Amino acid sequence: MYMQAIQDDITTLHVDAVVNAANSSLLGGGGVDDASHRAAGPDLLEACRSLGGCPTGEARITRAYHLPCQWIIHTVGPVWQGGKDNEAELLASCYRNRLKLAVRQHMTSIDFPAISTGVYGYPAEPAAAIAIATCRACQQQYAGPDRVCFVCFDARSMMIYQSLLT
Ligand code: APR
Repeated sequence: MYMQAIQDDITTLHVDAVVNAANSSLLGGGGVDDASHRAAGPDLLEACRSLGGCPTGEARITRAYHLPCQWIIHTVGPVWQGGKDNEAELLASCYRNRLKLAVRQHMTSIDFPAISTGVYGYPAEPAAAIAIATCRACQQQYAGPDRVCFVCFDARSMMIYQSLLT
């Protein structure tokens, strides 16, 4: 598994799957969620309605509609509560469950935003460390996806991921 970090808008990427940082309703919100729904179009909301929500730490998959990628994997990260409410394990399970879904769908690449580090307030550095460590651990377990990309929206996130990936 090749891991890299880029600075970009995740809704513009021509890859197998992008991950949406959703909430448990799966009916849209702000940040990545808003950008994904705006770019994918109204059919995405219809598809999400039929999924009936998603618990924190789990993942659901839909087609990507007008996004340039094939699939959107919706996941709900933990809201940061100060670190004493199992946030680290819930965040790790987000990455683990998405990778499992990607492998099940025979995806060769998956692009992750920095889940929970926006509206949900998870501190960027520990969140990045969990993301990378979980993906490395999954590399041992699953044969794929070949490429994992951490899509940073700003320069600070990019610096954090680059420092952890070198
Ligand atoms: N491309 C890549 N990354 C993005 C984009 C984008 N278009 N838009 C935002 N980001 C980054 C943010 O800068 C942050 O680092 O994604 C990370 C996650 O931020 P949020 O989208 O706010 O997600 P999260 O913190 O997981 O909160 C989820 O916010 O938008 C609502 O409905 C969503 O209730 C849910 C909550």
